[in-house]
Amino acid sequence: MTPPDTTPDAKKDRRDFLLKFGTGAGVVALATQGAASLRSLVPNVSYDSPTTVKLGPPADFPDGLKFLADERLFIFRDGNTFHAISAVCTHLGCTVRAEALPRAETATVGGQPMQLTHRFSCPCHGSKYKGDGTNVSGPAPKPLAWYRLSVAADDGQLVVDLADQVDRDFRLTV
Ligand code: FES
Repeated sequence: MTPPDTTPDAKKDRRDFLLKFGTGAGVVALATQGAASLRSLVPNVSYDSPTTVKLGPPADFPDGLKFLADERLFIFRDGNTFHAISAVCTHLGCTVRAEALPRAETATVGGQPMQLTHRFSCPCHGSKYKGDGTNVSGPAPKPLAWYRLSVAADDGQLVVDLADQVDRDFRLTV
């Protein structure tokens, strides 16, 4: 077995090799870490909720109002006619509460007569809305949104599109 070469040239060669090896390993480690950091900015799964939501068969909705907590939505039914009003306060987004009126009122909403059975109030800063969503007091800057309802072609369920705001003359008749 030959003894290790301990001449000054051999020592310098080893030092150069170790320096280059260490530098290369450091660059590879930094590049790998950088790539992993960039990849973490791209989600594997989209958590965006779909804007179109099936709500159930129209028969599941009683006459009057039904609150859907997941969608933060009020569905109103009057016979075969439906409309949907958002429960999201237009001030800072708290969920408004519906309060039954002592006596139903008839109002003209979107140019058509409508029985208003409720009004809405916001527990956060006290905004109040009429039963058609019109803001009447408090810091809310605009009315509650109305959303388009439709009937699913495949199974007849009521469908709301939370990206499609409609005017207050919207009614769905099934
Ligand atoms: S969030 Fe409703 S009044 Fe402020």
